[in-house]
Amino acid sequence: MPRRPLTPTALEPIENASRDELQALQLRRLRWSLQHAYDNVPHYRAAFDKAGVHPADCRALADLARFPFTTKKDLRDTYPFGMFAVPREKLARIHASSGTTGKPTVVGYTLRDIDTWATVMARSIRAAGGRPGDLVHVAYGYGLFTGGLGAHYGAEKLGCTVIPISGGMTERQVQLIVDFKPNIIMVTPSYMLAIAEEMERQGIDPKTTSLAIGIFGAEPWTPAMREAIEAKVDMDAIDIYGLSEVIGPGVAQECIETKDGLTIWEDHFYPEIIDPETGRVLADGEKGELVFTSLSKEALPIVRYRTRDLTRLLPPTARSMRRIEKITGRSDDMLIIRGVNLFPTQVEELILKQPELEPYYTLEITRPGALDELTVHVEMGSQLAHADRATREASARKLAHHIKNTIGVSAEVRLAEPMGIERSIGKAKRIVDKRPK
Ligand code: DLL
Repeated sequence: MPRRPLTPTALEPIENASRDELQALQLRRLRWSLQHAYDNVPHYRAAFDKAGVHPADCRALADLARFPFTTKKDLRDTYPFGMFAVPREKLARIHASSGTTGKPTVVGYTLRDIDTWATVMARSIRAAGGRPGDLVHVAYGYGLFTGGLGAHYGAEKLGCTVIPISGGMTERQVQLIVDFKPNIIMVTPSYMLAIAEEMERQGIDPKTTSLAIGIFGAEPWTPAMREAIEAKVDMDAIDIYGLSEVIGPGVAQECIETKDGLTIWEDHFYPEIIDPETGRVLADGEKGELVFTSLSKEALPIVRYRTRDLTRLLPPTARSMRRIEKITGRSDDMLIIRGVNLFPTQVEELILKQPELEPYYTLEITRPGALDELTVHVEMGSQLAHADRATREASARKLAHHIKNTIGVSAEVRLAEPMGIERSIGKAKRIVDKRPK
């Protein structure tokens, strides 16, 4: 289906504003946000006092660097509601992260925050090519996870029709896509692959469905994965980024016309890149850890939140706001195998270069002796699964060789039978750490 062209008037004025206008708005909002946090959240008051800074010290955007960072630990230490700047009665909604270790991270929204979130999500869907009247299949999980409801409210606000199917029940996902004919799907890229695979199992060519745009995020994925999905489903695969602590999905969004990284909705979320070791603010263009300060949130103002996501800030292109380079790893997912740093996405890129393999994989780390060992489990495509042993072994050896040559780490590659690797219905779990704790 041809995409309706986007007229400049369809954008919010701030999306086309000058840098000066944008920065003036940012500074005004930043000063409000710092004061709001200081006045209403004991944690921020104590942290600012300890660092010897006061909200009034923020006279220019660069002054933000004087304020202390906030980490996931701060949210855990104040569990459940200690970081909120409004009384609990003023919250319209609560979300929480699953919390693989320890307590979940709890985030809250006033009604105005929900509206802000819907606004940035509507903007995101439009940037991805969505238009009022589109039919949007939301297969991000609904519930405490911010993906489903975040996408839902944004799509409604843009004027779309939403199919709130949530994640899971893959057969039914396919049935509804075939019957309802949505043109947009919002889902994790790993679950998109599983849905496409289920289509094939049912004898449906994913290229022939109504899906024209996929808005994919919540987990790292590579440019190679984009190409693979676009080829398999015949759609535009567009990246969306966000995190619960900052608001949820819709913090940054790739624009369909450029597909060159994600535009940060800088009028609501102020980005910095820091050196993760020293905490020093790095210049635009330098790679480091992404840090966000909310500029307009009421319930959970967040000051210099350390995302652990590694990327760089890029100049504006399709909108007046700066972009981030596609995030292909977070520091928590970085494996250090015998001194070599490795992200799962680096292995993903290499797997996708071998068409006989499928992009379903896990990285298993063990420590049988003194040293860590890496085993890559990757699924064979059906052709390879039916090939002779020598052909399979050659394929495994080839991948191990590429991993050694491009990443610099020795890995054992084990080929799994088709469907041998568990499918994700949300965020894919790539790392299986079996090292003794
Ligand atoms: O995953 C919010 C979201 C939902 C984003 C749906 C996009 C789509 P959390 O569960 O708090 O929130 O996880 C946030 O997921 O810090 C990144 O490490 C990772 N992440 C999110 N989007 C991307 C992306 C949601 N496009 C954490 N690329 C973030 C890479 C992503 N990583």
